Amino acid sequence: MGARVAAIVPAAGKGERLGGGTPKALRSLGGRPMLVRSVEALRRAESVSQIIVAAPPTLVEVVAQMLGRDVDVIAGGAERVDSVRRALAAVDDDVSVVLVHDAARPLTPPALVDAVAAAVIAGHPAVIPVLALADTVKEVGPDGRVIRTPPRDGLRAVQTPQGFRRDVLAAAYALTDVPVTDDAGLVEALGIPVTTVPGAQEAFKVTQPPDLVLAEALLARAAASDGRGDADGCATDVGRGAEARRGTEARRSG
Ligand code: CTP
Ligand code: MG
Repeated sequence: MGARVAAIVPAAGKGERLGGGTPKALRSLGGRPMLVRSVEALRRAESVSQIIVAAPPTLVEVVAQMLGRDVDVIAGGAERVDSVRRALAAVDDDVSVVLVHDAARPLTPPALVDAVAAAVIAGHPAVIPVLALADTVKEVGPDGRVIRTPPRDGLRAVQTPQGFRRDVLAAAYALTDVPVTDDAGLVEALGIPVTTVPGAQEAFKVTQPPDLVLAEALLARAAASDGRGDADGCATDVGRGAEARRGTEARRSG
């Protein structure tokens, strides 16, 4: 009881690696924008009570219309860290736990969101979902020559949502000029421990064109197994089905 949880959704990127002109978060996936699906996963999570989206600065109004009144939409910044920093300023006063979740992970199961939030509420200052790696990873020098091969057993691929005690994330984002590729990297720079929980295959990030094909295929399969014959359902129905939808309705009306 007591902990209010906010979710920040950085969605202001250009999607250069995906290509196609439209900002990535607004690209359609099974008939609905990727961002709508990512926000829906957060809405369906029982733990989340505030959702803040950092949109491309010229599209704040469009995105606010698209998402509805229960979502706060602010203008993102030039880099992901700038977008998250701006969104942090919009977190409600009574929130004590903050999740940061990429708009580009539209098939994330709500159960993963709740698992990350629960681990923070249980006392871990910073929590990240991780998966074992399929590929071997090598450190390679600028000349293309292999420097070393870290043992794969100790390596993990990191997903979002990443969850933090609010004061920890605020302190992390008070740091500047720390080169990191995820939010937890800033927390590590503070010397604060970061805990892992099992990630989910469906929480993969849509980054390159084949990722979009995979996401479309998973949605089509979920729609077919729901017997609806369309891909209009929520992405987060993947592997969950009607029970999850009823649960969300119960929470909303409660
Ligand atoms: N993001 C953001 N603000 C930025 C850059 C990125 O809010 N200035 C968001 C993206 O919208 C995305 C998430 O951070 O939801 C993860 O970033 P990434 O996958 O790199 O998305 P893009 O930056 O859009 O893609 P690319 O790097 O290929 O241009
Ligand atoms: Mg990027």
